[in-house]
Amino acid sequence: MTNKTVPVTAQWVNDTVQTIPTPFHVYDEKGIRETARFMAKSFAWVPGNDGKPGGYRNFYAVKALPNPVILKILAEEGMGFDCSSYTELVLCEKIGVTGEEIIFTSNDTAGYEYKKAKEMGVIINLDDISHIDFLEKEADGLPDLLCFRYNPGPLREGNVLIGKPEEAKYGFTREQLFQGYKIAKERGVTRFGLHTMVASNELDPHYFVETARMLFELAVEIKEKLGVRLEFVNMGGGIGIPYRPEQTTVDLEYVSTEVEKLYQDLIIKNNLHPLRVVMENGRYVTGPHGWLIGKVQHKKNIYKQYLGLDANMANLMRPGMYGAYHHITVLGKEHSPADQVYDVTGSLCENNDKFAIDRPLPQVDIGDYVAIHDTGAHGHSMGFNYNGKLRSAEILLTGEGRPRLIRRAETLEDHFATLEV
Ligand SMILES: Cc1ncc(COP(=O)(O)O)c(C=O)c1O
Repeated sequence: MTNKTVPVTAQWVNDTVQTIPTPFHVYDEKGIRETARFMAKSFAWVPGNDGKPGGYRNFYAVKALPNPVILKILAEEGMGFDCSSYTELVLCEKIGVTGEEIIFTSNDTAGYEYKKAKEMGVIINLDDISHIDFLEKEADGLPDLLCFRYNPGPLREGNVLIGKPEEAKYGFTREQLFQGYKIAKERGVTRFGLHTMVASNELDPHYFVETARMLFELAVEIKEKLGVRLEFVNMGGGIGIPYRPEQTTVDLEYVSTEVEKLYQDLIIKNNLHPLRVVMENGRYVTGPHGWLIGKVQHKKNIYKQYLGLDANMANLMRPGMYGAYHHITVLGKEHSPADQVYDVTGSLCENNDKFAIDRPLPQVDIGDYVAIHDTGAHGHSMGFNYNGKLRSAEILLTGEGRPRLIRRAETLEDHFATLEV
């Protein structure tokens, strides 16, 4: 069971809208920092390249919340960054993060993106065997360090969100993986990493333990068959969060303990120590620390009861895109009985523009503010401009509890800036 609370009150929103109108996302700095510290502490045993503890690193998936202020907070907490595009690389560069603090896990990548990644000295994680040639050509040679993304295909079950691995477009097959290391070694690559990501928003801790087992076993086999010794394994992102109140958070300390046992059994016993264990989670880090705040602007009673918000699917796509559950709190009515049932909608001309369907809520009035939970990852960043809807502001609730505007809302001028009228 997770206690779904909101760090702001109806009064706080009333005060804030005097200068920043709804809708907006609000993020809690304290919660983000605490989660980052908890992750680092949980995996403190992971060895660095020198064999001493301190080698664990979460490369925060920039796509989850690509706001420079948030990224700076995470960098301060010792996180690296997982970038998937040129823009995300530049974003990191702008906040002073470069080199091996970044892993470039992209797919269907353009030549100019690889070129930029190589210039910045980031860890390049190739998505396909053909990209060895492509990278060499486009970026004038291969880097010293190269990582490959493994897709285990039918050897591993995926999960609902990411689908079956054999139907996913990502990564090398097992056979290609071995060929890839061989080719890269022959072409002068001296340092190697291995990456996989087979689940998204997964709440079962065993899943991650099994991923570590799969990667450690591969590390052993790659050394035995090719003489290639891996420097790190990257378990990817995908640690889920309890979007529903009845769900519980992944027990990270349990995952760490089990992974450490596997490390002893597979890595130390096979003389492969030190091998860094890294990850690239986004959702787990910032997801629970964000809320989309919107105002109820209409109520409609036809075959069902509808609440029309001033927010819409362009502010938060997950419910409309894959029916994802996001908890909703009506601010000021936190303790009222949920004795009504509503569809909570946005204003797009799309019937799937609904934040919730048949959701029990207290009696809601026009003008009430609602907080949609867990929007701190894959929330604002997925936004789009359909129906000419403008992207919302983002507010950071600082460590001292002050609201700080960290992205203003888009204006009509922004929208028309790219158009010839
Ligand atoms: C390659 C890769 N790494 C990491 C992530 C982050 O996933 P999550 O935010 O669920 O941890 C994603 C999500 O799309 C991804 O595609």
